[in-house]
Amino acid sequence: TADEKLRDLLLAHIHDVPDYPKPGVMFKDITPLLADAGAFAALTDALAELCRRYGATKVVGLEARGFILGAPAAVRAGVGFVPVRKAGKLPGATLAQTYELEYGTAEIEIHADALGAGDRVLVIDDVLATGGTAEASLQLIRRAGAEVAGVAVLMELSFLTGRDRLASALGDAPLEAL
Ligand code: PRP
Repeated sequence: TADEKLRDLLLAHIHDVPDYPKPGVMFKDITPLLADAGAFAALTDALAELCRRYGATKVVGLEARGFILGAPAAVRAGVGFVPVRKAGKLPGATLAQTYELEYGTAEIEIHADALGAGDRVLVIDDVLATGGTAEASLQLIRRAGAEVAGVAVLMELSFLTGRDRLASALGDAPLEAL
């Protein structure tokens, strides 16, 4: 099927890097995919198609690789792009959300006026791991007054069960892993 062809193309351009950033971790390197014009275009088209399918009026990209994937998808779908950044990087008034990591906490922010009532937001990122970052982004989107259209990621590391962590924040909205 077309989905399987896309999956094979994407997988062929994602490289496994053992013991990065620390021993025992298998890092999924997407830079070969970004460097391949055909594969990057196919990924962008697929993400833009999800924007249309779920009626998104905005794409929210999660720092940093979610910016690289989300911005071209937003352009192709004809919707605006809104960054969710790590704390302290956005110049205007922000909403902040703290979330639990394996050890400690992290904080992400969105511009308070970036979204509003009537916006339907597709969140785009490269990887769903524990789901903490995506879950916090959905909380920010709702606090900003917008509706969640869905979450789209290139890869889901299903052994980390991020889909389960995300379930209640997603509600009826879809989680798509290409
Ligand atoms: C990675 C990845 C996701 C997040 C997933 O980003 O790009 O955004 O972690 O992890 P989670 O599902 O366990 O929350 P990272 O924090 O490495 O940031 P970077 O892209 O800025 O390097």
